Amino acid sequence: MTDDLAAALTANHHRLGIFAGRVRWYEEVGSTNDLALSWADAGGEEGLAAIADAQTSGRGRLGRRWSSPPGAGIYVSVLLRPARAVLPLLTLTAGVVVAEAIQAACGLVVSLKWPNDVCVEAGTRGWLKIAGILAEAGTSSTGGNYAIVGMGINVRTAIHPPEVAVRATSLEAELGRPVDRSMLVVECLSAFSQRYEQLKGYGEARILDEWRRRASVTLARAVEFDADGAVRRGVAQGIDEGGALLVKTGEGVRRVVSGEVRWL
Ligand code: BTN
Repeated sequence: MTDDLAAALTANHHRLGIFAGRVRWYEEVGSTNDLALSWADAGGEEGLAAIADAQTSGRGRLGRRWSSPPGAGIYVSVLLRPARAVLPLLTLTAGVVVAEAIQAACGLVVSLKWPNDVCVEAGTRGWLKIAGILAEAGTSSTGGNYAIVGMGINVRTAIHPPEVAVRATSLEAELGRPVDRSMLVVECLSAFSQRYEQLKGYGEARILDEWRRRASVTLARAVEFDADGAVRRGVAQGIDEGGALLVKTGEGVRRVVSGEVRWL
C-alpha cells in the first residue's frame, strides 16, 4: 500500500465502519471485482475491500471493459453479505455514495444517470461519465449469499480507448487541479459504510430520495431503451421503490428494470 493511503486509512479508521482494518491494496490486478468474488467464494468476511492502482481486465456493466490505466483512477470493490435482498438497490446506493465521496473529497457536484453512471457537465463537451458502478451478487460454494460492489472513478487524465475517451472525463480535468486519491478512497469507504447501514436498517426510502435529488441528468430527460426486442422512447419520470426507472412512453409508463437508457 502507498504511504499516503496507509496514513489516510489510519487517520480515518473511526470513519470506515465495516471496512476498518479490512482494506487490501494491490499495484495491479485483473479486476478488483473478480478478486472480491474469489474472496466471497472462499467464505471471506463482509467489509473486505480490494483497491488496485491498475486493472488489466477491468469490467463494466453489460459485458463492457473498464479502462483502468495505472494511477489514473480509483478502482475499488467491496464484499458485502446483506441478510436480505437489497441488491437491486445497491447500484443506486453506490451511486449516491460515489457522488457524496466526490463532493466531500474535492467539492465537485456530479449527477447520477440511471442506473450506474456518475456524470458531470463538462462545458461544450456536454455531460460526460466520470465514474461507474458494477454490482454483482451470488452464493458461495461454501454457502452464504454475497454482493460485490465495484466502483471506478476517473481521477487523472489518461489515455483511454477512443470509444471511452469521447464520452469520459476525469476529476482533475474538470477541476483543473490535483485530487488526493487517498482521501477519495477514505470518503468512498466512509460514505459506503454509512449508507449501507442505512440500507440494512430499512432506510431505502431516504437513499432513493437522495438519489433522486442528485439525478438531474436522468429525471425529466427524453430517453430511449430496449424492451421486448424493440427500441422504445419516452421521458424518464422517476424511480420506484425497487430502484426501477419509470419512463413515460406513448403506450403508458414503462418500468425499466435492467439494461440502460440512452439520452435523445
Ligand atoms: C460501468 O460503468 O459499466 C461500471 C464500471 C465499474 C468499474 C469498477 S473499477 C473497480 C471494479 N472492478 C472492475 O472490474 N469493475 C469495477
